[in-house]
Amino acid sequence: MERFQWLKIAVLLWLFTIAGARELQVKHMELQIKQSDHGPVYNHTLAKILVEYASAVYMSDLTELFTWTCSRCDDMIREFEVLELIVDVQHCLQAFVGYAKDLNAVVIAFRGTQEHSIQNWVEDLFWKQLDLNYPGMPDAMVHHGFYSAYHNTTIRPCLLNAVRRAKRLYGDIPIMVTGHSMGGAMASFCALDLSVNFDGPCEVQLMTFGQPRIGNSVFASYFSQHVPNTIRVTHAHDMVPHLPPYYTYFPQKTYHHFPREVWIYNVGLESLVYVAEKICDASGEDPSCSRSVMGNSITDHLSYYGIQLQAETWGSCRIVNSNLNNYGVKDLRGNIVLSRDPTTTPYSAIVLNSEIGIQSASAV
Ligand SMILES: *[C@@H]1O[C@H](CO)[C@@H](O)[C@H](O)[C@H]1NC(C)=O
Ligand SMILES: *[C@@H]1O[C@H](CO)[C@@H](O)[C@H](O)[C@H]1NC(C)=O
Repeated sequence: MERFQWLKIAVLLWLFTIAGARELQVKHMELQIKQSDHGPVYNHTLAKILVEYASAVYMSDLTELFTWTCSRCDDMIREFEVLELIVDVQHCLQAFVGYAKDLNAVVIAFRGTQEHSIQNWVEDLFWKQLDLNYPGMPDAMVHHGFYSAYHNTTIRPCLLNAVRRAKRLYGDIPIMVTGHSMGGAMASFCALDLSVNFDGPCEVQLMTFGQPRIGNSVFASYFSQHVPNTIRVTHAHDMVPHLPPYYTYFPQKTYHHFPREVWIYNVGLESLVYVAEKICDASGEDPSCSRSVMGNSITDHLSYYGIQLQAETWGSCRIVNSNLNNYGVKDLRGNIVLSRDPTTTPYSAIVLNSEIGIQSASAV
């Protein structure tokens, strides 16, 4: 009996040692990579802040989002001024641009897909073709659908306007672009667009969570030249970063991620599990990061740093937009753009449209 107890303790100690050794190994590798090449520096604190923006943009109550009072809007980020909230109702897309006082940066966040089922959306990813030449970049191929979600919808013109306004208001501060899943794909096209096509200088940082591949290796290498400050966070067995597939035996012709991946994964067994973060190599397709495991989890896709990244309900492009007509325009197709200037209209001064007053009066 006593011997059995000792055995248990010995096994536990051994497990701790293994876990500790692996952590050391991970730390050591991170250090080596940081010193050996000059990629972007991964900042865990910043990642935990940006993931909250990527989560908030999923909220469907536009009033709460616009006034930054939604349930996901106040955890880590209190002093955020929404400048523009864009909803492309036609294509079921949503994004916002705002000023984050604590970061002294403009933050742009894109919502992920709102299709009927995430399962179906993920399965469709498998078949996405490289079917568009990225304009101005010879041999760079991307997926047309991802490209046009950003480039050929209400999103881009409204967003660029908002960035110009932000620059007038706050000067040339960094622009941090973020998004989860499909929103990460759109954030990538946006970051590249701001770096390459935007008038005037832009210090663009991109951090995405669980994004799919969006282009081929030629595109990936242009991308990392133009948006060097890019972190692509992947989580454990999240399926989406594995899609559309990368074929090792056909590297020039398949999809290829751009760097730099940071892979979050669990180390250890059962109650001894802890979370490790690995900063991956500069190839974009580090075989020892997320590619070292099966991409077979939707659950891992929907949560990063413990934050939920999905809408309250799937399968609807539901918008709750009761009373902000004073701040918005709606185009003929029903797309909505809400704008405000925080210097003249602080949140406290946002007045609700009088129509609502009349409605509630008549209801009473
Ligand atoms: C990481 O980001 C946080 C939040 O922006 C910042 O306060 C901190 O100084 C950064 N750390 C490093 C090492 O850059
Ligand atoms: C942009 O969208 C319009 C209509 O939605 C379509 O006719 C056009 O072909 C699209 N252009 C590109 C480059 O995708």
